[in-house]
Amino acid sequence: MNLTSIGADIQLAAKLLEKGSLVAIPTETVYGLAANGLNEMAVAKIFKAKNRPYFDPLILHVANLDMAQQVAEFSTLALKLAEQFWPGPLTLILPKKKIVPSLVTSGLDSVAVRIPANEIALSLIVACGFPLAAPSANPFGYLSPTTSEHVVNNLGKKIDYILEGGTTKIGIESTIVDLTQEPKILRLGGLEVTKLQSVLPQLTIAQEKENNPMAPGQLEQHYSPNTKLILFSDSVELENRITQQDALVTYLKMDLENLTNFYCYLTDNVENDAQAAANLFKTLHYLDALPCKTIYFQLAPEEGLGLAINDRLRRAAAKFHKP
Ligand code: TXA
Ligand code: MG
Repeated sequence: MNLTSIGADIQLAAKLLEKGSLVAIPTETVYGLAANGLNEMAVAKIFKAKNRPYFDPLILHVANLDMAQQVAEFSTLALKLAEQFWPGPLTLILPKKKIVPSLVTSGLDSVAVRIPANEIALSLIVACGFPLAAPSANPFGYLSPTTSEHVVNNLGKKIDYILEGGTTKIGIESTIVDLTQEPKILRLGGLEVTKLQSVLPQLTIAQEKENNPMAPGQLEQHYSPNTKLILFSDSVELENRITQQDALVTYLKMDLENLTNFYCYLTDNVENDAQAAANLFKTLHYLDALPCKTIYFQLAPEEGLGLAINDRLRRAAAKFHKP
């Protein structure tokens, strides 16, 4: 058996990355599949392990602003956002510097960069001394991983080491803001739109067609479970539809006796969208491993992190919707 080892050894992880190996790392959003972001051969292994198309560029994770400025050009606005929201779930798209291999950016002149708010990730990047290219540590198109167990189950044998960091705090990927043109949100994520707009009022959300294929994380079909996923808004819609073999996920806990054997809810408080976001992929992973026929999943209220939750849910369900 070829089992990937999991551990908390930052020095070992740094050594492996130094020699061009792949290491899965915790961040505050989801687990990442990391390689030395300045080593093209190492970066190529990420695409192979994930079965990710080469046209889908990667995010460089750095430990501080100095390191960020070695890979990207920062405008005054970029510095302002970085100062306000880093470390944290914000990825900035900025003009790239020559040092970044074109494989990382899929040949684009821009590069995605962020400082993760996770002590283990930060210590690792400092120990490495180079930026880490890291997409989410899932096979391309599948659910994002929020625990090391998700990583082992889905990519295990393809990774040299998994750095244990418990369950990720935010549970949903970073928000991506493109600053190479008029500021636009390319991907909704762990940093709420309203927080960004309080610093940058003119910030808009890119329309689907505008950013495709610029940010392929925005592909209509993405983040999908294997089990059929059907979304709904109001539980009344479910009557006569759901059976004991189906799973049901509601946003808030409901009293739905005998409705299904597989019942989950995202939060116990409608205001607690952070808890709902943290439980999103975890719940989908959990149910995808159970023998249920269909997962009926309730959409979140369309505000705060609910916007990002619904974005992920709609992409996750896209392949099951009949045209
Ligand atoms: O929270 C996160 O962002 C996680 C953790 C591991 O940091 N990472 C993550 O990476 O979600 P990934 O590869 O799954 O998603 C990165 C997204 C992709 O949709 C990619 O297309 C977009 O970032 N992206 C990267 N570079 C870009 C660029 N230069 N221009 C536009 N989009 C870019
Ligand atoms: Mg991803």
